[in-house]
Amino acid sequence: MEIVDISPENFVYDYDIINNDKDHFDYYKKYYNLHTEFLRPLNIKIDINLFEKEIKQYHTKFRRWGDNRNHLPRYGISLVNYDGNIDGKYDIACGPLDQYNSGKHHTEHLWDDAFTKKTEVFYNLQSMRPLDCIKNFLVRSTINLKHKHGNFVPHFDTMPKPNIQNLRLWGSNTSKGIEYKFLGNTVIDIEPGRLYLIDTTQWHYIISHKDWVYTFFIALNNSQETFDWLKNNLI
Ligand SMILES: [Fe+2]
Repeated sequence: MEIVDISPENFVYDYDIINNDKDHFDYYKKYYNLHTEFLRPLNIKIDINLFEKEIKQYHTKFRRWGDNRNHLPRYGISLVNYDGNIDGKYDIACGPLDQYNSGKHHTEHLWDDAFTKKTEVFYNLQSMRPLDCIKNFLVRSTINLKHKHGNFVPHFDTMPKPNIQNLRLWGSNTSKGIEYKFLGNTVIDIEPGRLYLIDTTQWHYIISHKDWVYTFFIALNNSQETFDWLKNNLI
């Protein structure tokens, strides 16, 4: 960079760009006003007994979760994906999107907000009806399944930036047999079936120490309506 005049009276401000910067500061504050803890319980609860019975009809349609860590028993099936189809050869929603986007076989990058079509799993399972109250906000969402040793190594999923257009919810069928940590802290007192607003800007990991651990991996768009709904439905 060139040597310049540093006297403040000679600096020429561009207020269009300064105002654009303001959007970033405002969104950061808005994001962390809502995400005051790693997990915040929401007024949505899935009936786990019913879910575990119902999901069996789809056990033959689960896919491997991505293809980058095939040494682990990690699977998924879509509630909301790109085309509403769970029978296609691939389902991009069922795997890490950063990994998909880094692939060389396509040029278009896809993020959670590009996935808006609900699947038959969403519509057919009675146990998913508690999600109807957020159906207008849902984007890429899956049911994940891990057996023993299934894990997600330490990572973060999102950033508090206005162009990262998703907010994440999380829930599990069990509070036992999973090791879940964020910023070095241990997640305790998970209520099975409860959906939580989750702050995945924080580094976290999860390891399953037993079989048949389901997680509800739900994303919502980041509209003002979604923020308002979440604020009103925290418990
Ligand atoms: Fe994550």
